[in-house]
Amino acid sequence: MQIVELRSDTMTRPTPAMRRAMANAEVGDDCFGEDPSVNRLEEAMAALLGKEAGLFVTSGTQGNQLAVRSQTHHGNDVIAERYCHLFNAEAGALGALSGVQVRLLTGERGVFTPAQMEEVIQRGDNVHYGRTALVAVENTHNKSAGYPWPVEALSRVSECARSNNLRVHMDGARLFNACAATGLTAQTYTQHVDTVSVCLSKGLGAPVGSVLAGDQTTIDAARYYRKMLGGGMRQAGVLAAAGLYAMEHNISRLPEDHGHATRLAEALADLENVEIDLDEIHSNMIFFSLRNGLDPFEAVDRLSEEGVRMLAMKSGVIRAVTHLDVSGEQIDRAIEVCRKVLTRVS
Ligand SMILES: Cc1ncc(COP(=O)(O)O)c(C=O)c1O
Repeated sequence: MQIVELRSDTMTRPTPAMRRAMANAEVGDDCFGEDPSVNRLEEAMAALLGKEAGLFVTSGTQGNQLAVRSQTHHGNDVIAERYCHLFNAEAGALGALSGVQVRLLTGERGVFTPAQMEEVIQRGDNVHYGRTALVAVENTHNKSAGYPWPVEALSRVSECARSNNLRVHMDGARLFNACAATGLTAQTYTQHVDTVSVCLSKGLGAPVGSVLAGDQTTIDAARYYRKMLGGGMRQAGVLAAAGLYAMEHNISRLPEDHGHATRLAEALADLENVEIDLDEIHSNMIFFSLRNGLDPFEAVDRLSEEGVRMLAMKSGVIRAVTHLDVSGEQIDRAIEVCRKVLTRVS
């Protein structure tokens, strides 16, 4: 049975062409700065993001955590959004690796405001309190079904951060999905942040890796901490080559995934047992719930038996994510299976 894999865009597998690029990669020892493919990737991504320097890291988690470690001191406060990945889904790394405290703001679709920031910023002018060092934003916002930050909102947050001497980090695991959704360039977003990490291994289809980009001093610090965490890689050019291939071939095709997400969402909206808000489909993620007593976990099991994999979350919401490895025909198949499985009454 052919599987339609909609659980996550991390499930993409390197294509034969990407594997060829990996096999042919020029390599050297990256801990000596001598891997030409890694150097090329870091330079190309930094240039695309409008930053001075880039660092190839093992994962989105490592990129985020190095950004925090490099821009804070132990005991500092970090402002982040309540449902962000960096706080909720990175194995407690903020406390463990950076020793920071987190001030969580409840955003609207992940977006918070300067007024909310002002309420929690600690300026270091009272010995009783910590000191805020960094603000983190997530674009697109995973838990808000891949919502892209409006640039004006980002600009206001950045302005507020700068006027309070705070750094801004963007978890841009899916920044290029934000670009595909809005038609804006990556730099339109990244001009408002000091550091940004982007994932190569999600919608861009590389098997491994992310790039953290920022000013040279911060990236030098991040390189040092990456080594400390055992993330100093050697002939990592075979992986960087996949990243370079992904940049060249797979960024421009992301709108196709968004189109697939919209088509699937529209078909789901026609089903009586499905509750879905089409206004909340922003990029490559669909969140929906079930009505009439249908159990989401059971439904996901039944979909899986028919070859369509989706994710039921603790909240009872079901998530489907489109990506490079899901074709238009597979979306047709997913729609057909959803019609069959989700129209049953428990
Ligand atoms: C918004 C966001 N940031 C960061 C990450 C972490 O990426 P990785 O799984 O490569 O560590 C993810 C992973 O899904 C994510 O969705």
